[in-house]
Amino acid sequence: MLAESRSSLQTVFCIFVFLRLEFGKGMQRIGLLTSGGDAPGMNACIRAVVRYAERRGIEVQGIRSGLRGLAAGDFIPLGRLDTVDIIGRGGTILGTSRFPDFLHPSVRARCAEQLHRAGIEGVIICGGEGSFKAAHTLWQEHQIPIVGVPATIDNDIPGIDESLGFDTAVNTAMEAIDKIRDTAESHGRIFFVEVMGRWSGYIALYAGIAGGAEYIALPEERTDFQSLYEEIQRIGPDRRVIVVVAEGDEKGGALAFAEYFREQYGIESRVTLLGHIQRGGSPTVRDRLLGSFLGKVAVDALLEGKTDGYVGQHQGQLTFVPFETLERYRRIVPSVYVELAKWLV
Ligand code: F6P
Repeated sequence: MLAESRSSLQTVFCIFVFLRLEFGKGMQRIGLLTSGGDAPGMNACIRAVVRYAERRGIEVQGIRSGLRGLAAGDFIPLGRLDTVDIIGRGGTILGTSRFPDFLHPSVRARCAEQLHRAGIEGVIICGGEGSFKAAHTLWQEHQIPIVGVPATIDNDIPGIDESLGFDTAVNTAMEAIDKIRDTAESHGRIFFVEVMGRWSGYIALYAGIAGGAEYIALPEERTDFQSLYEEIQRIGPDRRVIVVVAEGDEKGGALAFAEYFREQYGIESRVTLLGHIQRGGSPTVRDRLLGSFLGKVAVDALLEGKTDGYVGQHQGQLTFVPFETLERYRRIVPSVYVELAKWLV
């Protein structure tokens, strides 16, 4: 009896989802939000979504301040004119937020209610891992058709080649390292330069190699302090040494490295924390193109009835990855690149 009623409930649910997806193909109004840490290229994505949707006869409601704005119903209609001259701007014109309140079921229900009330039939969310997990719950609990555009400087989204903002951030970090090298060289100093990346060392790896660092400390691997010390000795006194440290390194970042070397070996050094400078700035050509391309593709995905996943490029092809992948898999730097770094620094 119980099994029977459960299976008829499941059937009703499936029919509901089917109708919802079929209905999605004729959407009149979609919502668009940027969420989590801002990433250069988000504006290019906003521009593409708005312009392409307009051409397809679909209205776009911008959701301000990320998930916080969604819960508050902070919506604003977006048209072509709102997107003039934004493609080269960093940040996001819609604003964004970290919004831990979203963990409460009642807040999620309010988000769904706001969308229904505004007649929004599908949502595009431009953000990173946390935002996509939130999007997944919105679909699961409230059947809101939702498609993600991966945007995070950390480049830690699985199943795609690159997330929006990574290229700009890594170029910013490399330029900063180039500048620090001038001072390090002039004074013959050791510098520990900290870059962003909570659990993924992509920024550290790319900027470290491109910036000609002597050592790169990644969250993906334990640092061998003794061999780093020996390397510094080998380079010789009063010679410049640049060590790039990912913020997520198990030692706890560049300040911890400097402290350790002072205490353990009596080595004086300087520390530079690049911090949020890596999140800002005008996006590179690559991020502008990626944002534009994925913005358009995300609209197509919604209109094709796709939901509960994110669009991306993978090995030269378009891909659609289920949000659920993030529950099972965390993207880190592959070991082949970690090895490569050892040979190139
Ligand atoms: O968005 C990714 C990221 O920049 C991480 O590299 C960093 O650890 C974190 O966000 C910082 O977040 P917030 O700006 O909220 O302090």
